[in-house]
Amino acid sequence: MTDEFLAAGVDFERANAARVYDYILGGSHNFAVDREQASRTMAAYPDIARSAQANRAFLGAAVRWCLREGIDQFLDLGSGVPTVGNVHEIAPRARVAYVDFEPVAVAHAQEITADLPQVSVTRADLRDPDSVLEAPGVAGLLDLSRPVGVLMVAVLHFVPDDAAAVVARYREALTPGSAIAISHNSDDQDDPAVGAAIAGVAEAMRGSATELTLRSRNEIAALVAGLDLVPPGLVDVARWPDDDAAPVGVYGLLARN
Ligand SMILES: C[S@@+](CC[C@H](N)C(=O)[O-])C[C@H]1O[C@@H](n2cnc3c(N)ncnc32)[C@H](O)[C@@H]1O
Repeated sequence: MTDEFLAAGVDFERANAARVYDYILGGSHNFAVDREQASRTMAAYPDIARSAQANRAFLGAAVRWCLREGIDQFLDLGSGVPTVGNVHEIAPRARVAYVDFEPVAVAHAQEITADLPQVSVTRADLRDPDSVLEAPGVAGLLDLSRPVGVLMVAVLHFVPDDAAAVVARYREALTPGSAIAISHNSDDQDDPAVGAAIAGVAEAMRGSATELTLRSRNEIAALVAGLDLVPPGLVDVARWPDDDAAPVGVYGLLARN
């Protein structure tokens, strides 16, 4: 596999969020450089495993909400290395288009979904929405004339530039009744200790292939301006939809298009 990853452009010298996150969640699709990065990140934020678990739980809750509303197709942008609670497992009858730009994440997702015709895996950069939407794995699988659940979970904080413009382009492509789930790290927290921990994570990730861009609560809300937020609105993922767990420093929201 190493040769294939080299050919696919994996940089074994620089940690990547897909593999660091996999390690933090207890997975095995990561390299030494990722584990070293994870150690630095955990030193900055000892509660980061709970944060990753709460984020995965948010993703699952958002998908189940969509299913209850009759949404049966999903575009999972920045889908990551498959772990527990993948979208196609929560929604086994749905069409699911996974998109990620990291070769290890894509290879593993392709491997575990190879026998599932209702699931596709595309290697693409979500910052180029037109290429994503035109990719065979997306255009050939999803019917954009019907509602889609678009998942941008723990990924937009890896988009340094105009994340709002990126989200806006996906919004334009969606038919009414679609839904957009977003989770996003932020140091804009009521609890200064949580804010400082998230700022520490961003500092620890500096120099990695996937540096963190933190946004304020208002900047995250602005990504879906004009859309109706599903209750409870924009809250910490550990509290979405109705938990009272301590915040983990990641905001989550689900918006109806
Ligand atoms: C922290 S993981 C989140 C995985 C999953 N969405 C979740 O929340 O459990 C972030 C993922 O986003 C991917 N990613 C980051 N920037 C991306 C981009 N511009 N295009 C596609 N994928 C991207 C990374 O490769 C990584 O797999």
